[in-house]
Amino acid sequence: MSMKSLWLDRPPITLAEQPPFEAGATYDDIVVGAGLTGLTTALLLVRAGRRVALLEARSIGAVTTGNTTAKLSLLQGTRLSSILASASTATASAYVEGNREGRDWLLRYCVDHGVPVQRRDAYTYAGTRDGREAVRREYEAARSLGLEVTFEDDAGLPFESHGAVRLADQGQFDPMDVLEALTRDFTARGGLLYEGVRVQGVDARKPARVKTTKGDVFAEHVILATGIPILDRGLYFAKLTPQRSYALAYRVPGAIPSGMYVTADEPTRSLRTTPDPAGSGELLVVGGNGHEVGRHASPQSQVDDLEAWTTTHFPGAERTHVWSAQDYESHNEIPFVGWLPRAHGRAFVATGYSKWGMTNAVAAAIRLSAEILGGNLPWADQLGHRITRPQSLVEGAIANLKVGAEATRGWVAAELGSLPDAPPAEGEGVVGSDGGKPVAVCTVGGITRTVSAVCSHLGGIVTWNDAERSWDCPLHGSRYSADGTLLEGPATSDLAPRG
Ligand SMILES: Cc1cc2nc3c(=O)[nH]c(=O)nc-3n(C[C@H](O)[C@H](O)[C@H](O)COP(=O)(O)OP(=O)(O)OC[C@H]3O[C@@H](n4cnc5c(N)ncnc54)[C@H](O)[C@@H]3O)c2cc1C
Ligand code: FES
Repeated sequence: MSMKSLWLDRPPITLAEQPPFEAGATYDDIVVGAGLTGLTTALLLVRAGRRVALLEARSIGAVTTGNTTAKLSLLQGTRLSSILASASTATASAYVEGNREGRDWLLRYCVDHGVPVQRRDAYTYAGTRDGREAVRREYEAARSLGLEVTFEDDAGLPFESHGAVRLADQGQFDPMDVLEALTRDFTARGGLLYEGVRVQGVDARKPARVKTTKGDVFAEHVILATGIPILDRGLYFAKLTPQRSYALAYRVPGAIPSGMYVTADEPTRSLRTTPDPAGSGELLVVGGNGHEVGRHASPQSQVDDLEAWTTTHFPGAERTHVWSAQDYESHNEIPFVGWLPRAHGRAFVATGYSKWGMTNAVAAAIRLSAEILGGNLPWADQLGHRITRPQSLVEGAIANLKVGAEATRGWVAAELGSLPDAPPAEGEGVVGSDGGKPVAVCTVGGITRTVSAVCSHLGGIVTWNDAERSWDCPLHGSRYSADGTLLEGPATSDLAPRG
């Protein structure tokens, strides 16, 4: 089963002619990561006349943005009540303001650049009777923050639900359409975009030295728009939770509700429609069943469960696509956007959008470009510009993690069972001890491969993902293909060939 998203099921974006990547080159700014955060930031900087290079390890949109469900909304599940539960009203208002600016910028951008957007009402609904209270809380939170929400007893769904909060006139699009428009605009203005260049480290001196798989390059500023940051590892592991979830697209006989829906309660169900690329009607996109990366015994069972739910509630639904992606939840509910401590104002990050990155990525791009270009945004001041954490705690955490990872490695090697004699069956993988070293063995496409089971980030032991046929790290969400090639996460190198 291919896990390619509906949005990535098209020819790759072709880039305009540009000079080849040149080791030793110096730019004003280097942006790392060609998702929505990186492309928007890079465009805003190049528009201000800066010389910008955008470095992408894989291809444009390959990681989260090309695999999102792309609802552009200020009503975001139960996010506003969650933020208000742990932050001040001023901070929650600043979050809404930033997201409003992000949403409006993107809507305008799409209109100006001919990117199709469907205006839709957003709903947060209760899938169970117990969920009604959470919907009520979200309604109150949204109203208190000035959003024109309404409470609906009937969410307009073709199955039982228990009340909903609705925000009219939000938006939805195909995220690859958006990335394509941003790419064209960025490169037409002289921005340089290099795919297949992985950043492995940044030395935040003046100028900053960016170490890549194709050689070192230099810049005044480096913006890490990589999802979870690849540097400063110790700072984030304790503050971000990588959450993987699933999405499926269907051709459905009969009417589909046209709103953008998400449950307030568990199990999470997310619904939207999208124009059918192969026909005249609309497809239904269903998402949900998230869990921490690398910590579910059978991701495939989560896909099967979503499929069963959909075919029960939308009889005759025929699946066209199934895919999966991860995003990072910040433990204080507010994304981390700003400059890294001890990087002397030269290295920036943006992460922790908690699956609401369409607005948050653009808000982050606006914030970071204002930071670099010298703009003034009161909402950004309220949210803070620096990623802080008491120094001693950070260092203590890094030290503990390293010790912990080392200790785990030894412990795991001792505790792991020895490998079974027979190779794993097709589509299966197993971790075991081989001569005292943790190794990962899997069979995919008839080929049995053995690689080290030790994550190249900080030594976690990977687990098998039976839906995507990948090795996933339960510590901070790095993922590798069956042959050990790095796919995503904070790691910057592949799994070692063997333990
Ligand atoms: C299943 C799912 C559904 C979602 N649905 C919605 C939704 O409906 N609405 C909404 O608002 N948000 C949604 N989100 C969240 C949203 O999709 C993300 O927050 C957003 O796409 C993140 O964009 P990004 O640019 O920060 O990251 P990404 O798109 O992941 O881009 C990061 C890029 O950096 C590159 N990279 C990483 N490391 C390196 C390196 N070392 N060197 C060079 N390049 C590197 C990667 O290859 C990648 O291309 C959803 C998320 C998920 C997982
Ligand atoms: S140890 Fe950090 S992602 Fe694996």
